[in-house]
Amino acid sequence: MKHIKFIGFIFFLFSLTESLALPTKPQDIDPFLDTHKFIEENTAYLTIIAVAQYVQEVSFDEVEMLVKVMMDYRDRCLANRTLPECSKIANKVIQDMICATEGLPQKHNVSHCCSKTDFARRLCFFYNKKAKTGFLPPFPTLDPEEKCQAYKNNNGSFLNLYMYEVARRNPFVFSPVLLTVAARFEEAATTCCEQQEKATCFQAKVVPITQYLKASSSYQGTVCGALMKFGPKVLNSINTAVFSKKFPKIGFQNLTSLLEDVSTMYDVCCEGDVVQCIRSQSQIMNHICSKQDFISSKIKECCEKKMPECEDCIINTNKEDKPEDLSPREPKFTDSKNVCQERDSNQDGLLNEFTYEYSRRHNYLSTPELLRITKVYKDLLEDCCSRENPAGCYQHAEDKFNKTTEKSLAMVQQECKLFQGLEKDALLLHYLVKFTKAAPQLSLEELIYLSKGMTEALTTCCTLSEEFACVDDLADLVLGDLCGVNENRTINPAVDHCCRADFAFRRHCFEHLEADTTYALSSVSALISALRSDWCQNHNEDLQNKKHRFMVNLVKWMPEITAKERLCLFTKFTAVGEKCEEVQEPETCFRPEGSNIGNESEAANKKR
Ligand SMILES: *[C@@H]1O[C@H](CO)[C@@H](O)[C@H](O)[C@H]1NC(C)=O
Ligand SMILES: *[C@@H]1O[C@H](CO)[C@@H](O)[C@H](O)[C@H]1NC(C)=O
Ligand SMILES: *[C@@H]1O[C@H](CO)[C@@H](O)[C@H](O)[C@H]1NC(C)=O
Ligand SMILES: *[C@@H]1O[C@H](CO)[C@@H](O)[C@H](O)[C@H]1NC(C)=O
Ligand SMILES: *[C@@H]1O[C@H](CO)[C@@H](O)[C@H](O)[C@H]1NC(C)=O
Ligand SMILES: *[C@@H]1O[C@H](CO)[C@@H](O)[C@H](O)[C@H]1NC(C)=O
Ligand SMILES: *[C@@H]1O[C@H](CO)[C@@H](O)[C@H](O)[C@H]1NC(C)=O
Repeated sequence: MKHIKFIGFIFFLFSLTESLALPTKPQDIDPFLDTHKFIEENTAYLTIIAVAQYVQEVSFDEVEMLVKVMMDYRDRCLANRTLPECSKIANKVIQDMICATEGLPQKHNVSHCCSKTDFARRLCFFYNKKAKTGFLPPFPTLDPEEKCQAYKNNNGSFLNLYMYEVARRNPFVFSPVLLTVAARFEEAATTCCEQQEKATCFQAKVVPITQYLKASSSYQGTVCGALMKFGPKVLNSINTAVFSKKFPKIGFQNLTSLLEDVSTMYDVCCEGDVVQCIRSQSQIMNHICSKQDFISSKIKECCEKKMPECEDCIINTNKEDKPEDLSPREPKFTDSKNVCQERDSNQDGLLNEFTYEYSRRHNYLSTPELLRITKVYKDLLEDCCSRENPAGCYQHAEDKFNKTTEKSLAMVQQECKLFQGLEKDALLLHYLVKFTKAAPQLSLEELIYLSKGMTEALTTCCTLSEEFACVDDLADLVLGDLCGVNENRTINPAVDHCCRADFAFRRHCFEHLEADTTYALSSVSALISALRSDWCQNHNEDLQNKKHRFMVNLVKWMPEITAKERLCLFTKFTAVGEKCEEVQEPETCFRPEGSNIGNESEAANKKR
């Protein structure tokens, strides 16, 4: 992937042990000293994260052995940092170590990466990550008493095991998030193991940790996926919108310089370089905290925290207030005569500045919406600048922006109306139908996962004052999950098109997808017989799961029947529970009022 920059050769400056480069003059305090120390102290965790994310199949014993190797290496280099091996970048040390472990590359199918060198090897390890972790056993759940016993007996090993299990199931989440998760889990274990009601205590404490992990993983995966599929320009416009909304006071030049650091951070973190990821994040925090006066008045307390809490704190603080003198509209982009000239000389610069000015003024909009408006502006200029009177053409831009926003608003309003009108289960089924129609090729697990993502987004957002931005942002992450991080998935041509065509308009693209009829059966009787045999197999199956699979199959096999017909069949089958042979005349679900019974061709051909 060309978007992962080849910046390795400057990395030796950032090798694991660089922390030993003590300041030469006493007054020469290194702002990164804390970071160095942090990385040194977390060498074991960082090794576990990198290994478990790159080679998810690896066993915990193997990881523990690699951790030992890495700790020896660290100690050796701390003792004498002029040893030649100590100038290697940490990510390379870890990948070399994986490759040098006898039998391990063959056993876990990474030999093809180990036979490559340099950039190609790093890329190969990146591509080896698998977002869908169905091939792993379910996350081990221990009884709280056992958990606490294990923690008491050997807290270090217990926490390492937890880190390993979490990291291999979340291969794209950035290392600082995982370190935060581990710290919070440790805190939970310490607190809960001293209490009588251990299970209740764990339950209460672990739920928010899991939510934080899922939300971070989804966001970071979506942004990395955007970088992989659309390149650094799209990454930059995402961050322009995000930072301009959050920090409307910042000047454009200063934002640009901050975003250079942010882009570097995504380059290294998306690739999976756990050490460099921490360094770049802490560099961004230093950058922001050292310029608070120009950026935000609300982050003072965050900046007093240490990493990685500082990052999370800044991410979670409220938006800075808009400057009082900020006019509602920036005339430069729609009223000036020189727009086309500027566009000809530097289109990217112009569009970035547009995103910045529009975002800081409309900080209640979602990130995708701000990118949509930028795209609308770009297309408009393309059209106007080839006309006789460009200025007369683009002066109506704001109309177009408002129309775009109105469309997106209407979509969200409809989604929230649905949320208000349906029970939770019915809402899930609604999205199950929707996703199955669009992508019947996906597994039941993934379809359920995506549908849950949508229902959770609506549950979280539909009562908030910033309902629109919340729904639109979160729903976009669901599509980010669907579209994939380190691969261009081939699901079906229509879905693939929506994933690749335009990042900003993904949601609109999916909204207009037609049903995929790949698996459609030709007649109602074929459908009913297939549904029957599916419903009647496997008596011990969880009923909820059975219902979900039934709905997915129903949509796969006959995507174009009406919602009413679908509900009728669903009700008939689920009403009899396990007694599958007692389903009453499912054919009657297709009887149009006042017409023949079971006109199969009519039912099957019905288009909606
Ligand atoms: C550190 O390693 C360098 C290079 O191998 C060697 O020349 C030097 O003697 C070592 N220093 C100590 C204190 O062991
Ligand atoms: C091993 O990896 C290669 C390349 O990614 C892949 O083609 C192959 O199917 C994998 N084999 C197994 C057993 O997973
Ligand atoms: C394990 O517990 C001991 C004693 O309570 C403590 O000193 C040590 O720091 C803990 N180790 C980890 C990795 O938390
Ligand atoms: C940008 O930041 C510098 C300090 O680093 C400050 O002097 C300058 O005024 C800032 N510019 C704007 C437009 O805020
Ligand atoms: C566009 O929408 C904004 C905010 O709702 C409004 O203030 C503005 O007058 C609208 N502009 C046009 C040209 O319709
Ligand atoms: C996915 O598609 C993008 C854009 O077409 C391309 O740059 C990239 O190399 C592709 N990625 C993979 C893993 O094939
Ligand atoms: C069934 O419906 C089709 C299409 O509407 C119609 O052409 C056909 O005559 C109907 N068949 C019977 C037996 O009514």
